[in-house]
Amino acid sequence: MPSTNQVLIFDTTLRDGEQSPGAAMNLDEKLKIAEMLEELGVDIIEAGFPISSNGDFEAVYEISKRAQRSIICGLARAGFKDIDRAAEAIKPAKRGRIHTFISTSPVHMKHKLQMEPHQVLEAVIASVARARNHVADVEWSAEDATRTEFEFLCRCVEGAIKAGATTINIPDTVGYAIPSEYGALIKALREKIPGADKVTFSTHCHNDLGLAVANSLAGVMAGARQVECTINGIGERAGNAALEEIVMALKVRADIIPCDTGIATSAISRVSKAVSNVTGFPVQFNKAIVGKNAFAHESGIHQDGMLKHTQTYEIMTPESVGVAKTSLVLGKLSGRHAFRDKLEAMGYELGGNALEDAFKRFKDLADKKKHVFDEDIAALVDEEIATGHDRIKFESLRVVSGTFGPQSAELELSVDGETRLGVARGDGPIDAIFNAIKVLFPHEARLAIFEVHAVTEGTDAQAGVTVRLADDGKSATGRGSDTDTMVAAAKAYVHALNKLLVKRLKTAPEALTAARG
Ligand code: KIV
Ligand code: ZN
Repeated sequence: MPSTNQVLIFDTTLRDGEQSPGAAMNLDEKLKIAEMLEELGVDIIEAGFPISSNGDFEAVYEISKRAQRSIICGLARAGFKDIDRAAEAIKPAKRGRIHTFISTSPVHMKHKLQMEPHQVLEAVIASVARARNHVADVEWSAEDATRTEFEFLCRCVEGAIKAGATTINIPDTVGYAIPSEYGALIKALREKIPGADKVTFSTHCHNDLGLAVANSLAGVMAGARQVECTINGIGERAGNAALEEIVMALKVRADIIPCDTGIATSAISRVSKAVSNVTGFPVQFNKAIVGKNAFAHESGIHQDGMLKHTQTYEIMTPESVGVAKTSLVLGKLSGRHAFRDKLEAMGYELGGNALEDAFKRFKDLADKKKHVFDEDIAALVDEEIATGHDRIKFESLRVVSGTFGPQSAELELSVDGETRLGVARGDGPIDAIFNAIKVLFPHEARLAIFEVHAVTEGTDAQAGVTVRLADDGKSATGRGSDTDTMVAAAKAYVHALNKLLVKRLKTAPEALTAARG
C-alpha cells in the first residue's frame, strides 16, 4: 500500500466534463466554477485542453493566474506543439501541471493513431521528457488503458516513469472495466513496474456501464492515490466518475476504505447546482448525493423511522453535503440588508451592480409570488450571474395563445444595447416565441432540447426552462426561470443563443452576424 492515505481529487469538469455535447461554458463561467472548485478543496483542477482552441487556452491561462492553492493542469496530446501550448497556458500558475496522453490499446493505435506500438512507446518517452523540460509536475495517461495488452501497458508506464512522469493515470476511457478487474490492473501495475512506488497512480473512469465510481473506488483500494472525476459526473457520453459520490463514499465508508480527501463536503451541493446551472444539465432527481430526492423520505414507514431516529434511513446528513432545509425566506417588504444577508448565508458574494440587479429582480419576483424560497433566490441569482455579460438580452414578451389561434408572440430584445421589437406567429406559443427571436436575430441554430421543471412546489412556482441549441456540429445549453413559463422559455433560448454566439466569436465572428442578412 502507498505510504499515504490521502487521496488527491483531480477535477476535470472544465475539460472532460465540458466535452459533453451542449456543456460548453464561456470564460466567465469557467472562472466561476474554478473558483468554487478551489473553495471545495479540489487538489488539481484540469482547466482545459489549451491547444484545442483559443478559448480553452485563455481559460487555462486565466484560471492559472487566479488559483491560490489548487494545482492547475492543462491537457496535451503527445505532440510537442500540444505540450508547449499547455506549458504556456499554465505558466502563471503557482503550481502547474502538464497532463499528456496517448492511446495504447490495439484498436486505438491501429485505427485512430495509425501508429505501430514501438512508435507509440517512443512518443510516450519523448512527450513526457518534453513536458518535464517545462515543469516538474507531469502526468501521463494511457488512453484506453483498460483495453490495452498488459505487457505493452507495462512498457509504456515504465517508459513514462523513466522519462520523468510523476503521476501515472490509467483511464477506463470507454467505461468497459469491471471493478475487480480494474482494481487488479492497478495492483498489478504497481507491483510489476520498476519505480512504481515513486509515482502516484491515478484512476480516470468513464460511466458507460454505470461503473465509473465503483471502478474508481476499486482503484483506490488497490493503491491509486489520485481520482479523476467531475461534478455531477458530467462528461463524454455517459460521463465520468462523479466527484461527490467518490468523496462521500470515502467519507461514509472509511471503515472499509480508510482514506481521506481534502474536500470540504459541505460545499458540494452548492458547486453541484452551479455546474448544473452553467452547463444547463439538470441533475436527475434520484442522483446520489446531489439529486433533489437524495434526502427526501416519501413513504410513511420511512418518515416514521426518520422521526424516531434519523439514522434509520440516512447514512449521511444532508448538512454534510451542504443541503440545508428549505426555508421560507424573504417577503415583499424585505430590504437590501436582509437580501444580502440571505445571499451570504447561501454562499453567494455579489457586490455593486450585480447585487442591485439581483435585488430588483427579487422585488419583482416577490410581487408576483407569495412565498419566496431559497431555491427561488438561487435560480434568480444564478441567472443573473450566467447572463450578466450576454450580448442579446431578453426585455419583454406578450403572447397570444389558447384554442382560438393563431398563436403569436410580440418580443423585445436588446442586442448589443440596441432595442429590437419583433412579432411572429407559430404552431403554439413556444414556436411563436422562438420564431420571434429568429426575426430579431436571424440564425440557423436548431432546437435540440426543450425541458421545463418547477423550481419549487405550488402553482405559483417559477418555471425553470432548459434549451439546447445545435448548429454546425456545436451545441450550447441555456437556462431561464420565471413565474411565467413562456418568459422562462424565451430567456432560456436567448441564453443558449448567446453561448453559441460567444463561441462563434472566438472562431468565426462573421458566422452568426452574416446570417442576419
Ligand atoms: O478518457 C480518457 O482517456 C481521457 C484522457 C485524455 C485522460 O479523458
Ligand atoms: Zn476521459
